[in-house]
Amino acid sequence: MIRVEGVDAGYGKLQVLFDINFVAKPGEITAVLGPNGSGKSTLLKAIFGIAKVYRGSIYIHGEDITRLPTHERARRGVAYVSQVRNVFASLTVLENLRMAAYQLSQAEFEKRLDEVLYIVPLRETLRRPANELSGGWRQLVAIGMALVRRATVFMLDEPTAQLAPKMAEEVMAVVKKLRDASYTVVLVEQNVRKALEVADQVYLLVSGRVHWRGTPEELLKEKELGRIYLGLAAQ
Ligand SMILES: Nc1ncnc2c1ncn2[C@@H]1O[C@H](COP(=O)(O)OP(=O)(O)OP(=O)(O)O)[C@@H](O)[C@H]1O
Ligand SMILES: [Mg+2]
Repeated sequence: MIRVEGVDAGYGKLQVLFDINFVAKPGEITAVLGPNGSGKSTLLKAIFGIAKVYRGSIYIHGEDITRLPTHERARRGVAYVSQVRNVFASLTVLENLRMAAYQLSQAEFEKRLDEVLYIVPLRETLRRPANELSGGWRQLVAIGMALVRRATVFMLDEPTAQLAPKMAEEVMAVVKKLRDASYTVVLVEQNVRKALEVADQVYLLVSGRVHWRGTPEELLKEKELGRIYLGLAAQ
């Protein structure tokens, strides 16, 4: 569970987010939508501790983490999967997953691996070097690594961007499995229709503020919002 209360955040002197109130619950996919530059990635980065929070508070599972460094947030279960390199390219998939669990014994790791492979379909790829995999598969490896570490809060920044349709389906299937396994999922997605298909809650960011929040069904009724901010054709 993530709770963001009255957060102003940005980078140095550049304030990007203004008075953000945001909640993401376990067992739900919370989609963050909005135009380019509206602050979607910055919200995830503020929660993960890589954008600066000037004001307000961020809670993970009820604990105030506003002042904790990134690795302490990761220890508390927060995973941030961005599109930039998040696996070790020269290692195999199995080695990547093992790295994520260096503190586990081999027996514990193997047990954990079975649980992880139930959610992320990586079994066929385990022996392959990560750098031979497509971007979509590497994304799944990154999610698998977070699962091995027992992350409970998954923040996914445009996980299907630039993926072939079939791979995008594969990634979205995993996103739904995370939700169904009761994890907290925050999904930034540029494919608005796809996001609305899977999301339980939607936040629309505009110019660094929460402009609107509600369910996908409610948003689809707001024809003007969809047309102006999300490129949804009015019907
Ligand atoms: N590391 C950074 N340092 C300084 N400014 C940044 C940094 N990252 C982003 N910004 C600025 O913050 C603003 C919001 O960017 P952000 O990446 O959060 O938007 P976004 O909604 O994720 O956009 P997109 O849809 O293009 O991914 C932009 O004006 C951007 O230039
Ligand atoms: Mg972004």
